[in-house]
Order: sequence, then structure tokens, then C-alpha cells
Amino acid sequence: MRSLRYILRRRKTDEFSTYAYRWLYSRAQYLHHRSQSHIISKSLFGIFRSLVEQYHRHVPIEYLCGSAMFCNRLFIVNRHVLIPRRDSETLIHHVQELYRHNHDVQSMLEIGTGSGCLSITLSRLFPHWKIDTCDISSSALRVARNNAYLHHCHNIQFHRGNLFDTRFLENTSYNLIISNPPYISQDQVSACNYGIFHEPSIALFANPPLKFYAEIIRRAINGWLKDQGYLVFECSPFNVMSIRELLKPDFEQIEIRYDENHLARVISAKRKQKQPLL
Ligand SMILES: C[S@@+](CC[C@H](N)C(=O)[O-])C[C@H]1O[C@@H](n2cnc3c(N)ncnc32)[C@H](O)[C@@H]1O
Repeated sequence: MRSLRYILRRRKTDEFSTYAYRWLYSRAQYLHHRSQSHIISKSLFGIFRSLVEQYHRHVPIEYLCGSAMFCNRLFIVNRHVLIPRRDSETLIHHVQELYRHNHDVQSMLEIGTGSGCLSITLSRLFPHWKIDTCDISSSALRVARNNAYLHHCHNIQFHRGNLFDTRFLENTSYNLIISNPPYISQDQVSACNYGIFHEPSIALFANPPLKFYAEIIRRAINGWLKDQGYLVFECSPFNVMSIRELLKPDFEQIEIRYDENHLARVISAKRKQKQPLL
């Protein structure tokens, strides 16, 4: 059996790759151990070589290792879900700020749960909330449910559905709606790094880029969001001002939050109270 040290000596590796190889080697050991219980057991070296090849084809290391960190928690990931991003932690911190002094039970809806990282983190921070979360992809929901089990979340209901289906989650309303919807437009694709092409396109691309925001806002004011309820979106710095314009007619206290690279990353707003009819 060839050792990791042998492989590292043979390949020209920089410091980062050496570190990545160590992770991949542990993953290969785990997969090898698992494959031994199957009829066709694969060699450790074969598994490791395949992982290294994929790594050099820019497959994100989170997919190869099967996990990613978000808000200091480990989440299972696979190619059916977007890899949780550090930028998205801005949304969590902002929701925490909004509800710091509010201890009432809140109901929350998330559109586009993916790995479940947002709803699950909020479920752990606010265990008394009632959380509904949805995704169009049943494969993504499978991952999210496993993550909810891993983190002992008992207050989340998972729904499969399409935001653009008008019957979807009819007659329900919430105090808070959050979403990190797909928002990359075709003309921004060239600026993306290679790794993104291995992530599900349904999680990333929207044409036109504001269509998810416009639909969530429309459904929020048509019943999904209670009076004085909050809408909190993750967005890109390119579309934050357009989203603000969409929010202005029916929302107040519009706030923009910046990520650690000082880029506008989150926008939130409070639904205006309906004026009583005279
Ligand atoms: C950008 S990902 C966000 C994933 C996760 N919330 C996060 O922040 O890492 C968007 C998610 O929206 C889901 N999605 C795409 N189109 C949808 C639709 N029409 N209705 C509901 N969910 C949709 C995708 O499957 C994907 O999981």
C-alpha cells in the first residue's frame, strides 16, 4: 500500500495542495473503510487518486470531503446543494440582531433551503420558533433533512415546492421570511471561479436575476408576511439597489448589511402596517 508521504513526494505540491491532499487522504480512508463492507471493495490508492484528479479538475474540496463548515457547525454537502458560503453568515448575524430583544415565538419561512444551513442555524439559535423551509429540489431536501437530524432540530418542517407555483404554501403567513435565492445572471458567469460550475445551476442562476426577489416580495405582500413582519434576503452587491427599489412601496426600515469584504450582502425590510379603512 502506497503511503501519503510517498504520494506527496512524487507529486509537485504547494503548501495548499499538500493540506488538501491530507484531507482527501482521510476521506479516501473513510470511503475505503466503507467500501470494504460492499462486494466490490476498492483500493485505498484508487479512491485517493480519483479524489486528487477531481480536485485538479476544480471540484470543490467540500464536495470531495462531503462536508462544509457554516457558523461553526459542520454540514453534510453533496453536488445537489450549494456549498454554504461564509458570506451567508451575514444573514444569520443580521437576523440575530433583529430579534435580539424579541423573545416571542416567531414563525419563519425560508425559500430555497439547499443544505439547510440557514434554517438549521436559526433553529439552533431560536429553538422556540416554528420554521417552514422549502426547496424545488428533492435531492437538496434529502441533504437538508439529514443535516437537521445531525443538529437535533425539531422545529423545522421541510416542503418540496416551486416558488412560482401559486398554490404552493397557500393560506400560510409568517413573521419572518428569509431567502438566499439564485441570483447570478448570464453576463456575470465569466467572472465566476471554476468551482462554481460543479455546483447545481438551479441554485445559482436566475434569468432575469431579480425574478426570485420580485416573486417573494409579491407573495409576501399578498399574505405570506404578517404586518410588521421582516423580509431578509441575501443578495449580490450588483443587485442590492434594485431590490431596495422593489421593497420601497410596501416596506419600511430598509437596511443593508455588508460582509467581511465590505460588500453589500444582505438587505432586510419591515412590512408596513396596513392603514385602517376610514
Ligand atoms: C442559492 S441556493 C441557497 C441554498 C442555501 N439556502 C444557502 O444559503 O446555502 C438557492 C436554492 O433555491 C432552490 N430553488 C431554485 N429554484 C427554486 C424554486 N423555483 N422554488 C423553490 N426553490 C428553488 C435551489 O434548489 C437552491 O437550493
